Amino acid sequence: MAKIFVTRKIPGSALDKLTNSGNEVVISEFDRPLTREELSEKAKGVDALLCLLTDKIDGEVLNAIGPQLKIISNYAVGFDNIDIEAATKKGVLVTNTPSDEVNEAVAEHTWALILSLSRRIVEADEAVRRGAYYGWEPDIFLGRSVVGKTLGIIGLGRIGSMVARRATGYNMEVIYYKRSPDPEAEKTLGVRFAVLDELLAKSDFVTLHVPLTDETRHMINHETMYKMKRGAYLVNTARGPIVSEHDLVEALRDGQLAGAGLDVFDNEPNIDPELISMENVILTPHIASATHEARDKMGGQAVAAILDALSGQKPQNLVDEKVWHNRNK
Ligand code: GLV
Ligand code: GLV
Repeated sequence: MAKIFVTRKIPGSALDKLTNSGNEVVISEFDRPLTREELSEKAKGVDALLCLLTDKIDGEVLNAIGPQLKIISNYAVGFDNIDIEAATKKGVLVTNTPSDEVNEAVAEHTWALILSLSRRIVEADEAVRRGAYYGWEPDIFLGRSVVGKTLGIIGLGRIGSMVARRATGYNMEVIYYKRSPDPEAEKTLGVRFAVLDELLAKSDFVTLHVPLTDETRHMINHETMYKMKRGAYLVNTARGPIVSEHDLVEALRDGQLAGAGLDVFDNEPNIDPELISMENVILTPHIASATHEARDKMGGQAVAAILDALSGQKPQNLVDEKVWHNRNK
């Protein structure tokens, strides 16, 4: 009988499968992220850990859990919360939960932000609720059409591609930047590669779909924001620290950017108070993957990975395949 610790209850019925698996399963009794100390204490001695992106799993936490740990199943697509190198060194499997359902959900949310920004939906809604609707007026809440505009996608992975696919319905020109051009995607999506500076200079909307790494941390900063077209919009549904929030506030205050749609923040859950006071900014609480479809899929994948690993089968969605091969040499 293996020991499994789940750092927080997740929606749907996925955890039933875990608790009915004949293993010793403990689910955190708190409906909040655990502190580092709580996590280290509660996960001590477990064989499998199901954790969330709000759990920081580094070498120290891994040491506290102990050498019997076989798998960390991260209930998220991103895994920047886990020190993969440390886990790999210890031979601990790490899995994540990418799927069409999650990717489509994030692409949808990205579009919800793009359209809400360009058509000022949130500001207009707020005005109506405040009683400031006096009948049709010729000049209230004028926005900008997205039709014919240029969408710049930084990171053309699965999510970026799904964002691109939706842009064809709006007759947008889509340019993308990634480490190397992707001729296949260009053919199927009708997108064009641009180096970063060109993408920034030409796009009316810039949307981010890269993982958070040392290379992408604060890649959108004062310098890169001032390479953008004046009056462009920035959308971030990837990871907060890809954008310097401090520099973003300045660029918005100065009118360099017309607005921003943000689902993620530099230091979650804290948000720069000035950002909160800006009408041309839309803030959502890291909900891009929050659809029933996506979360059900994520739960199923996170649980299946643990049950596979514990029964000696190779789990799907290994972040670092090497660990599996080393374990089975
Ligand atoms: C959400 O941010 C995820 O990485 O799944
Ligand atoms: C993942 O699928 C991504 O688009 O980065």
